[in-house]
Amino acid sequence: MDKSTFTTKPIINGPMHAPLRHDSAHKHVTGTADYIDDIPEPIGTLHMGLGLSDRAHAELVSIDLSAVETAPGVVCVLTGEDIPGFNDVASTGRHDEPLLATKDVQFHGQPIFAVVAETRDQARRAARLARIQYRDLPHWTDIDGARDNGAPLVVEPMVLKRGEPQTEIEKAPLRIQGSMSIGGQEHFYLEGQIALAIPGEDEDIIVWSSTQHPSEVQHMVAHVLGIANNAVEVRTRRMGGGFGGKETQGNHFAALAAVAAKKLKRAVKFRPDRDEDMTVTGKRHDFRVDYDVAFDEDGRIHAVDATYAARCGFSADLSGPVTDRALFHADSSYFYPHVHLTSQPLKTHTVSNTAFRGFGGPQGVLGAERMIEEIAYALGKDPLEIRKLNFYGQQGSDRTATPYHQEVEDNVIARIVEELESSCDYQARRQAIIDFNANSPVIRKGIALTPVKFGISFTMTAYNQAGALVHIYQDGSIHLNHGGTEMGQGLYTKVAQVVADTFQVDIDRVKITATTTGKVPNTSATAASSGSDLNGMAAYDAARQIKERLIDFACRQWEVDRSEVEFLPNRLRIGGEIVPFDTFVRAAYYGRVHLSAAGFYKTPKIHWDREAGRGRPFYYFSYGAACSEVSIDTLTGEYLVDRTDILHDVGRSLNPALDIGQIEGGFVQGMGWLTTEELWWDAKGRLRTHAPSTYKIPLASDRPKEFNVKLAEWSENAEPTIGRSKAVGEPPFVLAISVFEAISMAVASVADYTVCPRLDAPATPERVLMAVERLKQMG
Ligand code: MTE
Ligand code: MOS
Repeated sequence: MDKSTFTTKPIINGPMHAPLRHDSAHKHVTGTADYIDDIPEPIGTLHMGLGLSDRAHAELVSIDLSAVETAPGVVCVLTGEDIPGFNDVASTGRHDEPLLATKDVQFHGQPIFAVVAETRDQARRAARLARIQYRDLPHWTDIDGARDNGAPLVVEPMVLKRGEPQTEIEKAPLRIQGSMSIGGQEHFYLEGQIALAIPGEDEDIIVWSSTQHPSEVQHMVAHVLGIANNAVEVRTRRMGGGFGGKETQGNHFAALAAVAAKKLKRAVKFRPDRDEDMTVTGKRHDFRVDYDVAFDEDGRIHAVDATYAARCGFSADLSGPVTDRALFHADSSYFYPHVHLTSQPLKTHTVSNTAFRGFGGPQGVLGAERMIEEIAYALGKDPLEIRKLNFYGQQGSDRTATPYHQEVEDNVIARIVEELESSCDYQARRQAIIDFNANSPVIRKGIALTPVKFGISFTMTAYNQAGALVHIYQDGSIHLNHGGTEMGQGLYTKVAQVVADTFQVDIDRVKITATTTGKVPNTSATAASSGSDLNGMAAYDAARQIKERLIDFACRQWEVDRSEVEFLPNRLRIGGEIVPFDTFVRAAYYGRVHLSAAGFYKTPKIHWDREAGRGRPFYYFSYGAACSEVSIDTLTGEYLVDRTDILHDVGRSLNPALDIGQIEGGFVQGMGWLTTEELWWDAKGRLRTHAPSTYKIPLASDRPKEFNVKLAEWSENAEPTIGRSKAVGEPPFVLAISVFEAISMAVASVADYTVCPRLDAPATPERVLMAVERLKQMG
């Protein structure tokens, strides 16, 4: 905006596109933001603990809970028999996930009973006193084990096919087959899972739940209690992080607290400790990608055939859509002329894996980038050159069809990559690194520039809907509610900006209120990065309706034309008169104008036929690119990220400050996934990495030493999304692949870049060291 318009036409505080701080930022840092454990407990609140399975797969022969029941402070013990409705919390409707196991257990740590006691400590101590007899059954915990044992699939696999992959693979000049293992990831939200259930009269119950999906918690609570949805209200003001780990994984805690609260007619709080949380809740899926890629001497891909196998755990949970999304991203940003992709969602005797930022997408992209590396090392070329050669074409070219038969219409990847390549001085730095490596015996460097193209929308079309509720009170203050949840990503702030902008009032006039199933019903999980797309539009729809009524009222009351009513910052111009917003609202109340509205939005254009593997699952794509430079120590396998440059596309940003925060956070979280975060199960199926002592998330000191993050400011969503913005929550996670590939290049240097290092993820120092040793022998 040019300065003169700024001075003559004041703007409101907090319009759309302004880099406003997070509405709770000051409360987060001063400790005044209320999380569920901060809500004053009702008198007589009880606490819960869990009795967990000590076997990976076994029949339950007998359960003796007498010592648990008589332990100090214990009020009652719940087993599967005590569930008044259905002993089932499967979010898929497949009934494959009991709330409490009764006949058999299918993973080490599966909940068998719950203890309710006066204090949390008493509940947890008592839970250890059970005597349970098991009859062991065969178990397998990983993808190899599942394949060796002919494990069943937890859902039907998905197949995507275009062209003639088999014949084209045979015909192409060059071909590489390989396999890549990709590890899972623990969410490590800072606020763990928690629920507080407060019973009311009749069947009523209120549940405060740290969940991304209040409506599903409502349905689960109703289901286990055997009551109607309308008796249950679920509230969520904020989560201390969700990252996908609170899409379905809060159900257990909320449902158990609710059963206990209704049974005992007392409030019940359930907050597992960190070890228990990590043991009983699902994680990111680990994958094994078996690929067969055919290409020519230039490095152009002719055909791809790949299978994406996943460790799903004992039940389906979200494994269907997660493995689907892996396939939807198995093309990364590349056009495959002929392609065949299959998912293999394998059942394992481990906790049921679930949503995690990117929802399978990052694993899909990582497999594709491995294929690019294979081609590059086989041809002795820079992987970036191979990437550029294989990018999707611009609209109108014959290289825009995805494996799922959606055309890529909004492609900006070439521009993003070109701009970043030049702004970060990629070519010169790569040459400098090659020169450095030639003379450095121990420390080796690597650099990689990797692209991101991420599909936006829930692939389950029905989930792409949202509602909002807006009231204006007589003093001109505004109450805002919508179906989205706040987990730190800044959704509440963005949606409040939309409403402030629509009425042209300062954002402090807009009260952000806790998400509750009582105000906006039938909501979807805040997930798939679509929170602001969906809820921003729904809130806009509600505000727009009230605004229309206000304009009609002004026309009637002031006897003017619509064109003479203008919403100026915090006031209106009606004919020749300037009226403050609150004065005007009070007049509208006396004029009997309805000052409340429910808004609704559903994403247009999308459809998906899974059987046929065809459709338009995504409304649009978000793009980005990152260039990372690393140093590795070839004697220890340790590494540092020296520098990262990111150029990311968020369309016309709703809030550049929050978006940059999402990009930095997503990138660092992705880096953790690909470097230090390793989940490890022992032969008995016990997760041995269930606390920060053994599970290493990135520290502040692991952040790139130099970190330059920019938005592609020229970008605008080609589709009419809210403010022409694009989703930002998950796509930046994928940018971290640049770190992984830079490590790979540093490893490759020990064999003079002639061998693809075939690093598996995570590239822990141990794995890096082993790869260095392997390549030293090959080079
Ligand atoms: N950012 C923070 N700070 N905390 C979170 O839990 N979750 C991520 C992402 N960013 C998350 C986050 C995930 S998994 C998703 S799907 C989106 O935020 C959800 O929010 P949105 O749809 O409003 O972007
Ligand atoms: Mo995000 S994994 O879609 O909650």
